Amino acid sequence: MKMKMDTLDTLVREDQAHLIHPLHYPKDHEHPIVMVEGRGAILKDLEGHEYIDGLSCLWNVNAGHGRAELAQAAAEQMARLAFVSSYAGTTNIPAIRLAERLVGLAYPNTSGVYFTTSGAESNESAFKAARYYWKIRGRPTKVKIFSRIHAYHGLTLGAMSATGMAAFHKMFGPLAPEFAQVAAPYAYRWPTAGDVGVEAADALERYGTGLTGKTLPHRRLVRARQYQQDIQKNRPVDRHEVAQQKKRDIHRAQGEDDARHGVRQKRDGVE
Ligand SMILES: Cc1ncc(COP(=O)(O)O)c(C=O)c1O
Repeated sequence: MKMKMDTLDTLVREDQAHLIHPLHYPKDHEHPIVMVEGRGAILKDLEGHEYIDGLSCLWNVNAGHGRAELAQAAAEQMARLAFVSSYAGTTNIPAIRLAERLVGLAYPNTSGVYFTTSGAESNESAFKAARYYWKIRGRPTKVKIFSRIHAYHGLTLGAMSATGMAAFHKMFGPLAPEFAQVAAPYAYRWPTAGDVGVEAADALERYGTGLTGKTLPHRRLVRARQYQQDIQKNRPVDRHEVAQQKKRDIHRAQGEDDARHGVRQKRDGVE
């Protein structure tokens, strides 16, 4: 029998034939790097090239690669008890001990831990916990989930609906109902001369109270929303126009100030 050789070419061919990647785009995946081992913060590929794992993979290899004591603990646990459901009526010792330990390390107002297996699942659980909370507080219609443009929250439907990046929606829309994104407090690209933090908070307040679409918000928020739509549609923001608009805003604000000042002077009989 012919042995299958783990050469780079065959692995890549088999990957491309059978492995579905979460963020797959064929053009970007023509020459994937096949990683084979890691030690601490260093990853090594099939050809022996080394890479600094600056992201801790997906922020999930927090203690580094090649930690034999973690592998050993996992192997011992799997050999003893592979899994037990903690839905209702059963529990297990490692989960109890870890929850107790985490509560001891967390903020004093933390009394419980809900374990999840991914970031997306954590966010889905957070959305549900918020809705649960408002239902038991007697406000069952308080269900909207707001997030910020540019934010990434995961690949599941709810997490994708919270994600404020158009490329993640394109082939999977429509978004789940009651999810909406508002402009992020991103000073570098904020389209007005105003205070980014205040206006971004304002955008959220106005969106949240349902003013959008019905009552025309003030000039700056109209542009903030335009900017938001440009980003959603992946239209490049016209930086020159934004800069010009900022200048016009400042001039107009100065003009309005001068005019007010003139009215006051007239009223007070200064002129
Ligand atoms: C901020 C943030 N939220 C959610 C996620 C989704 O996590 P996961 O891929 O574990 O579902 C990520 C992953 O990169 C993330 O960076």
